[in-house]
Amino acid sequence: MTEFWFQYRCPVCQSPLQLEGNSYVCAEGHNFDKARKGYVHLLLSHRMASKQPGDNKMMIEARQQFLNAGFYAPLVDALAEVCGQYGISSLLDAGCGEGYYSTALSERGLQVAGLDISKEGIMACSRRRKSMPWCIASVADMPYMNASFDAVLSIFCRVEPTEFARVTKPGGYMIYVGPTESHLSELRNRLYDEVRSYESDKPEQYFSGFEQLQQRTVTIPLQLESAEQIENLLKMTPHYWSTNRQQQERLFSAGPLIDQADIQIRVYQVPSDKTESVGAVG
Ligand SMILES: C[S@@+](CC[C@H](N)C(=O)[O-])C[C@H]1O[C@@H](n2cnc3c(N)ncnc32)[C@H](O)[C@@H]1O
Ligand SMILES: [Zn+2]
Repeated sequence: MTEFWFQYRCPVCQSPLQLEGNSYVCAEGHNFDKARKGYVHLLLSHRMASKQPGDNKMMIEARQQFLNAGFYAPLVDALAEVCGQYGISSLLDAGCGEGYYSTALSERGLQVAGLDISKEGIMACSRRRKSMPWCIASVADMPYMNASFDAVLSIFCRVEPTEFARVTKPGGYMIYVGPTESHLSELRNRLYDEVRSYESDKPEQYFSGFEQLQQRTVTIPLQLESAEQIENLLKMTPHYWSTNRQQQERLFSAGPLIDQADIQIRVYQVPSDKTESVGAVG
């Protein structure tokens, strides 16, 4: 039975998976249960770098509280606009976290699948919308057949351009979302004596060979009144892990945080040589 508009791919032998009863099975007989909560676990245990890879419960809950409060709603508007502009109707949210953007874009009429390596994240996604296609897997080895989606969306997550291109239809798109150098500068000022820039976030270094069609910055003024809101924001960022308790206390005790999220969106066209060659395989 074909359940969605795409087919999952067996992580063991790479052949298509069919849903039979409550299990996904391939022609070779590999078998993966669909959880009662709605998602499927397609990350092979020997490929897991740790027992619980990806964001943990604390990070997932913090992100969910912050995003549910609507602070980043303008980013959803901008992403929906970009999808409309390029006629994108099916999308993979690669590294979807707890599913805020995936479900919001699905509510705007897009067909959205979500993948994350965090089990806590994907369970939270299923709680948001059980009927959507959620799966636990890595962006490095995605369990979808070739050419499954009009576009792959990556929001504040690791990118794997070759793998993203493989699952994208010929002529499809890649939408990269990440921080600009000025993103959350006040938060960083409070945490660090010397503020470093986001040097690692230069998407052009990953996407060489892809044609950039568009680049824009979404600017969102933030006024976080409570220490809880500030703490939730901190836990969504890598700064939570790169600061000590003393630095974090300094951030929380300095009163309301007036800051600005400066988020870049870049749209790339997947080169036809990459999609054509993968199209021939799948
Ligand atoms: C900063 S969070 C962003 C989550 C979501 N895109 C958002 O903006 O709300 C990064 C996410 O990447 C996930 N992640 C980390 N490594 C991954 C991998 N190899 N494959 C898939 N997801 C991964 C984490 O579990 C986490 O949910
Ligand atoms: Zn198989």
